[in-house]
Amino acid sequence: MKRRSFVQSTVAAGLLASPIAQALTDGQKLDKTPSDFEGPFYPEGPRNESNDLILGAPRSKVLHFRGRVVDVRGQPKSGALVDIWHTDPLGRYKHTKDDSPGDRWDDFRYWGEALVDDEGGFEFRTYVPGAYNPRPAHIHFKIWENRRLLLTSQAYFVELGGTQGKSRSPRYSDLQTVSLKDTGDDELQSYLQVVI
Ligand SMILES: [Fe+2]
Repeated sequence: MKRRSFVQSTVAAGLLASPIAQALTDGQKLDKTPSDFEGPFYPEGPRNESNDLILGAPRSKVLHFRGRVVDVRGQPKSGALVDIWHTDPLGRYKHTKDDSPGDRWDDFRYWGEALVDDEGGFEFRTYVPGAYNPRPAHIHFKIWENRRLLLTSQAYFVELGGTQGKSRSPRYSDLQTVSLKDTGDDELQSYLQVVI
């Protein structure tokens, strides 16, 4: 199974240090990431067994979507698989059920997967999804372990669009929200900790 190697290199460089990770005292447990609905656009066809969703020169700012997957004790879920799918920056899924107009981008994969490393880290190279009302921009994801589904949920960019803001529709928790950090290099970063 071929996978691109930039995740390993960034982990080695210490770039995945978690802003959320914290030492747990005896008996303390993290809150689990809530499950969320799958939606109608789970990928069809051959899997993209890569954490790099962009082919060729990027069309717009690249998003490095990083995070960790841990259990309630904060222990890394090494070897688990993070499976993501989301829209292109124009808010369109690549799916036969999505009738949004326009040709889909041949140089964008729309979905991908990443193995969780020994530290619990994962990373994707993608674009910021487009928002489609009434929901803010979001990345759908599933966590698998040995082909067993552990979680289906979504990560929400609450500052990006949607007519149903969090205050009006509290259907997702803070544990599912991510923010965008501009690195100043024409790239963006987001970080999500997933607790199984
Ligand atoms: Fe969606």
